[in-house]
This record gives sequence, C-alpha cells and structure tokens, in this order.
Amino acid sequence: MFETTFGQNDAQTVAVAAPGRVNLIGEHTDYNDGFVLPLALQKNTVLVGAKAAEGSTIVRLVSEMSPEDVAQFDLSKPDELKPGGEPEWANYVKGMVVMFQRQGYAVPGFDAAVSSDVPTGGGVSSSAALEMATGTLLEVFADITLEPSTKAKWGQSVEHEFVNLPCGIMDQLISAAGQEGHAMMLDCRSFEIKPVPLDDPSVKIVVANSMVKHSLSGSEYPERRAQCYAAAKALGVPHLRDATMKMLDALPEGTLDQKTYMRARHVITENDRVVRFAQALQERDYIKAGLLMNDSHTSQRDDYEVSVPEIDHLVRIAQSVEGVYGARLTGGGFGGCTVTLCQENAVPALFEAFKKEYEPTIGKEALVFDTEAGPGARVLKL
Ligand code: ADP
Ligand code: GAL
Repeated sequence: MFETTFGQNDAQTVAVAAPGRVNLIGEHTDYNDGFVLPLALQKNTVLVGAKAAEGSTIVRLVSEMSPEDVAQFDLSKPDELKPGGEPEWANYVKGMVVMFQRQGYAVPGFDAAVSSDVPTGGGVSSSAALEMATGTLLEVFADITLEPSTKAKWGQSVEHEFVNLPCGIMDQLISAAGQEGHAMMLDCRSFEIKPVPLDDPSVKIVVANSMVKHSLSGSEYPERRAQCYAAAKALGVPHLRDATMKMLDALPEGTLDQKTYMRARHVITENDRVVRFAQALQERDYIKAGLLMNDSHTSQRDDYEVSVPEIDHLVRIAQSVEGVYGARLTGGGFGGCTVTLCQENAVPALFEAFKKEYEPTIGKEALVFDTEAGPGARVLKL
C-alpha cells in the first residue's frame, strides 16, 4: 500500500507496530490516579513510513481503512496543524506530530501507510495503537528514544486536544509499554509499571466484541469523570485513589448524592480489586482472580452504570460455561468488549456458547478471539 500510494521513495523505509489492549481489571480507575491491569494484544497497528525529500514539509498519510483517501498536511502551515479536517482519523497522527514539535523535536515531512488488525471503535484501543505507532515512527525520524510513559502522555493529550475525549492514560501506556507473556500492573499516578507473568499454558484470555456502541457514550464518560472528582473533593483527597470505603461511609449523610456515592464506591473497590487480582495472578490462583473479575463486572454494571444489555448478556454466557474463572466488561463501556479468563480446554465450549446464545438474542454475531500477552510498541525489521 505504501508503494502503490506514494511510489518508490528513496529514503529509508521504516516499519513500526503498536498493539491494541484488553484490560483484565481496573476500569475507570486510571483517571482517578489508580491501578489498572491490562495486557497488550497480539493485534497491532502497523505504520510503514519514510521521510519526504530533503526540505519537504509535507506529510501524506493513507490507511487501508480508506485507501483512496490520502490525507495531507503541511508542517510549515500552523493552520493545517490544528485539530479537525478530513479524514478524521488523520487527527491521531497529526496530533502526535504536534506533540513532538511542542517538545522541540524536529519532525520532517514524511509519507506513511497504516494497516491494522485491531478492531476499531470496539473498546480495544485501536486509536491508542495508532497514536503509539505514530509516536514510534516519529522517534525513529527524530533519532530519539522516549520513555514509554512520555509517549503515552503525549497520546493522551492527542485524545484530549484533537479528539475531544477526556480519557485516562491506560490505553496509551499499555500500548507503549506492553511485554510479551505479561499483563502489566500500571500505577496511573507514578507511572510505575509492574509486569505480572501471564504465561501459564493452562489458562486463556478470551475477548468478545459485542459489536455494539451506544451513542450516549459521548457524554457519559466525562460525566463519570466529573462525579469522581466531585467525590474526591468532598472527601478532601486529591483523587479517589487516596480514599477508602471507610472514609466514604464516614461522610455525613447527604454530602454526596446517591449516584456520586455509587461512582466513588466503584472506583474505591475496583482499585482494591486490581491489587488483589495481581496477587492472585502471581500465585496462579485463577479461581480467586476470576471471582474478582466477576465482582468488577457487577460493580461496573450496578454502581458505575457503564454496561449495556448486550455486554451483560456476553458476561452471563461466559460465566455459565464450565472452566470459566470469570468475565467482565473491559474498556470504557456502553458497548465494546468483554474479557474472560478461563481454562485452556474451556475455549471451544466458550466460543460455541457465544455463537449459539448471543446472535439469536441480540441479532448480530459477537466477534470472539483468544489472545496471549504480546509486546508493546516497537520498530519492526523490514
Ligand atoms: P477504540 O480506540 O476503542 O478502537 P475510538 O473510537 O477511540 O475506538 O477510536 C477509533 C478511531 O481511531 C477510528 O474511528 C479511526 O479514526 C482511528 N483509527 C484506528 N485505527 C485506525 C486505522 N488502522 N486507520 C485509520 N484510522 C484508525
Ligand atoms: C477507556 C479510556 C481509558 C479508561 C477506560 C476505562 O475508554 O480510554 O483511559 O478510562 O476507558 O477504564
């Protein structure tokens, strides 16, 4: 696609990859300075790029999502570096370019082609994969190596400034810092990254994409975030990461409205579940880990109210299959995916159950795949 779109380019061609992610546990904790425990998928966004001719300030981009539609902007024209414009997806790349420039790194004109097997818009962070792949390509062009957390923060800023999505840091951080064979416990305050081995061949991670995305998701995410900050303020702590259930329940009656109380209860208990889940994985106590995932789902559904009937259905299907340890909604919610932890030999029955029980009720098939933990963003050998 690179060659057919841009022709032969004399500059050295560079290829990079960055993965999507699935979060095992720790949902809506990242923007509360808390813990998350995702893993990098073995599904990646790949960018093949090369610098433009010496002195050129033109960036040209193409994605196999719409190969006839080449995006173009001129680095020397500030107006062309503003958020917006068509195609929309080019904003993720443009945003990363702006972050590099803002930090004083020279970005040359370049051509790049994007290809990905990360499902888009489905809660496994195809956008973070695109940002982190772009960041990795720009590192090569600028001849620098960034800390994964720096690259992740820039990706998060792109979401905030160019996409208008006030997300946390989890998606970008795991895409930048993932390690093969490991789930990663991320401290979203200190950016400390603890690899947790996930290489037991007798257990599997299965992701089921509900193939639904409810449109109300636009306003719900910022609203949840605001409720968390209101609860932290009432508790007199910087973030809910610093609160306990004891503190929450000691608040005088009426300090928080019922919904805000429920949001805070989810975050406080979820943060604690991440710590216990990491411990359970270390001890290979998958029964305990699975129960924590089930509790996490209940808390997301009832207290945080980010689940939807399709997702609850997928979770129920998974939880009823023998050999499944636990299942839950993964990602921001209002559609997207579920994640299931199960015995390796339960995978065929689980796939079968999703096939038999989802489509007849919901009217569309779930996209199901199993995964091991793959590596984070990296330069590929061509
Ligand atoms: P998620 O990150 O959960 O997959 P989002 O809606 O946040 O969902 O991001 C999806 C958007 O990211 C797409 O609509 C598109 O703009 C962009 N994107 C992701 N992957 C690609 C790709 N391979 N080519 C072009 N754009 C992509
Ligand atoms: C995602 C968001 C993440 C995180 C997650 C919920 O959509 O990008 O930062 O907040 O929702 O855990």
